[in-house]
Amino acid sequence: MMNLPDLKEAKKRENKPVETIMASNIKSEKFKGKSFYLRTYGCQMNVHDSEEIKGILTNIGFKETENYEEADIIILNTCAIRENAHDKVFGFLGRVKHLKKSKPDLIVCVGGCMPQQDSVAELLKNKYPFVDIVFGTHNISDLGKLILEHQDKQDIEVYSVEGNVYENIHYDRDSKYTAWVNIMYGCDKFCTYCIVPYTRGKQRSRKMEDILKEVKNLRDEGYLEVTLLGQNVNAYGKDLYDGNDFATLLEEVAKTNIPRIRFVTSHPWDFTDKMIEIISKYDNIMPYIHLPLQSGSSRILKLMGRRYTKEEYLELFNKIKKAIPGVSITTDIIVGFPNESEEDFAETLDVVNKCQFDGAFTFIYSPREGTPAALIKDNISMEIKEERLQKLNELVNKYSLRHNKEYEGKVVKVLVTGMSEKGENKVCGYTETMKLVNIDGAIGDIGKIIDVEIEDAKSFSLDGKKVTFVKN
Ligand code: 5AD
Ligand code: SF4
Repeated sequence: MMNLPDLKEAKKRENKPVETIMASNIKSEKFKGKSFYLRTYGCQMNVHDSEEIKGILTNIGFKETENYEEADIIILNTCAIRENAHDKVFGFLGRVKHLKKSKPDLIVCVGGCMPQQDSVAELLKNKYPFVDIVFGTHNISDLGKLILEHQDKQDIEVYSVEGNVYENIHYDRDSKYTAWVNIMYGCDKFCTYCIVPYTRGKQRSRKMEDILKEVKNLRDEGYLEVTLLGQNVNAYGKDLYDGNDFATLLEEVAKTNIPRIRFVTSHPWDFTDKMIEIISKYDNIMPYIHLPLQSGSSRILKLMGRRYTKEEYLELFNKIKKAIPGVSITTDIIVGFPNESEEDFAETLDVVNKCQFDGAFTFIYSPREGTPAALIKDNISMEIKEERLQKLNELVNKYSLRHNKEYEGKVVKVLVTGMSEKGENKVCGYTETMKLVNIDGAIGDIGKIIDVEIEDAKSFSLDGKKVTFVKN
């Protein structure tokens, strides 16, 4: 069946709560002894979707391999947010095509955000016939069925309209200590540069009782941290019409007493005083907020459809800083949006100087087909975009380092999540404020929240040693 997405239709959909249905979690022995290779591109949402994909694959008999050349099935969970993610996928598909010549039984699947764009689905259909299964973001839960029923010819199963909210999803989680928890799917903000509302559909919130059940189960299984996940978590509940909003949800999650709660991503427009109050009230809600700025120029923000001005962003930022002592705030910034002048860019630098973010993800604007901004001429040269990005990064890194230096000599709580890449006998983990710390330690520290004395700070990480308190 072929059902190509119609981007123009996405905005017109009816505003009513969607149905909640149970995921099927098909089990089969058909692929026992076979292995899968899964490559994930993009954001945390995709990383978490991949945990569902892994759950599906293990349910039908596959085991994971890290080596794609060894695999019986290859799945690419793709991202459409910028052109470079797109290029990486097609680059890798070239290698897979070559491999399939010597392994004709290899099953190749491409799923996630990219096939939601009609041009990509068409391209896969016409130019990549060796791709066996193409699926979208709305039917990940059906992947097991698609694989089990796959015959010889290419299956393209992509739905333009988002469907139900699935419950009872079986995840094969990457960590035993930290877990992603979807609280909503899709996004209704339609920022003019962004493909997400088209690839992920309208906002659909999960019911609060279902989220709380998942969090409590995770807590009972020994998880120490949950990250509540959504494209715009602050708008949680707006589509439910049951009176629950993100502040209510956050408070109820805090009351489960799971040790650490995080949430991403916040949109400044929906950030209420009540949310700030709840975050500051509960010790298990981590003092870390990712608050995308995108641009410091009110003129560009308007063109981006962000619904706030430079001044409003600064006001919110200062309010959060004042209400939550020690809070760390990171951001996303795009440079080179169409018509961004030197003055506009200077406004962005001005906000960075005023906010002195703990960190920032910075991007060069990339026109996405089907978005309103793509209709505006992309009139900033790559040279200028790169120049602005470099200038911005230098400033951002200066403040990151400055913030990190404040940690030197301090003792902080770190949830140790794994072995560090920085050498043998080193583990790593995150502070409450989401700073990465490399620690002299051992495997036994993994999965614990330990006290660490910070000895050295760099722009992107801290080094520290374990502290053992001696009682007098
Ligand atoms: N070009 C560049 N960056 C983008 N982002 C989203 N869409 C685009 C685009 N078309 C960035 C935003 C967003 C982050 C996830 O990706 O900064 O917050
Ligand atoms: Fe994209 Fe804006 Fe939605 Fe974020 S809030 S996902 S940038 S449309």
